[in-house]
Amino acid sequence: MTAVLDSEISAVEICELGPNSRNLLYELGRILADAYGGPAGPRCRHAIAELAAGLTGELADLVALPAGDAGVRVLRGLRLDSAELGRTPPSWAAVNDRTGAPIDLQMLLLATMIGSPFGWCGQQEGRLVNNVVPARGYERIQTGASSEIVLSPHTEDAFHPLRAHAFLLGCVRNPDRVATTIASIRRVQLSAATRQILLRPTVPILPDLTYGDLERWPAAKPVPVLWERPDGLCIRYDPDYTPWRDAGPQFRAAYAELGAELARVADLLVLEPGDVAIIDNDVVVHGRVPFTARFDGTDRWLKRVNIAVAERFRPARERTERGYGQRVTRLLPPAQLPAGARR
Ligand SMILES: [Fe+2]
Repeated sequence: MTAVLDSEISAVEICELGPNSRNLLYELGRILADAYGGPAGPRCRHAIAELAAGLTGELADLVALPAGDAGVRVLRGLRLDSAELGRTPPSWAAVNDRTGAPIDLQMLLLATMIGSPFGWCGQQEGRLVNNVVPARGYERIQTGASSEIVLSPHTEDAFHPLRAHAFLLGCVRNPDRVATTIASIRRVQLSAATRQILLRPTVPILPDLTYGDLERWPAAKPVPVLWERPDGLCIRYDPDYTPWRDAGPQFRAAYAELGAELARVADLLVLEPGDVAIIDNDVVVHGRVPFTARFDGTDRWLKRVNIAVAERFRPARERTERGYGQRVTRLLPPAQLPAGARR
């Protein structure tokens, strides 16, 4: 295990996978893909849970939630078959699930070592591994399919009480070294008054466009921007899907102060092929710098997996939220997880 600091980032732990770990994950991904074709069926999912529960040694040490206040840990060195994966698809819907199965299965093994991977029934057809690629027509729209605009810093699926505790961003290719932005709420400095304002529920957060149309949701319930976990301050933030302009001047000023602080402490994380970032979705907001997509099969291509971590705290008041009708789809129902599996 090596932990180093990249020159382009100041606070992120980078852990190089050793050759044994890389080869083991690679072989398991290939074996599962050959046996089951991909992670859609229950037999493959049982196998993922069994295998992940049995992984020990260096992998078990490295594949863990980020420690400290940085909120991000990068695993470096996943083995990829770039030629087999083929060209970057023009949209998530055009992904070849068969050729992508080995890397998707490696991602799911990693996610299952940390917690319970899940997808959204209303996003990318419920896949557990989502594909993030630039798409024509979405260049300037605030979703992961954008390119020409800054993707604003946000909590993944901030609108929902079952949003991921953590998620993986795995890099298939990134030839133009397009940076992901990350900013930890633990590094911002806010006045006591601003902090108090943002701890109170004032405005709602609405689902983003990847969940369909942007009709005004009738039961939009205000939620706090900041909240406390036993180990420190946490954030729930998505300014492009928050009607903050409808709030009073005090809240708007506090929200602006927070936005400026998040920009001040933001780091640029350039993911390279084979990198997998493990991101604490309660501590870190993430985004992306603008870039010019070529749409020729060579563009940046990331894989994303949401993870629920049963022992992670969330405020009790969130249990009454309805999540705008969006439902999760899990690797397996908890009752079917093998003994020793993370939940
Ligand atoms: Fe995101």
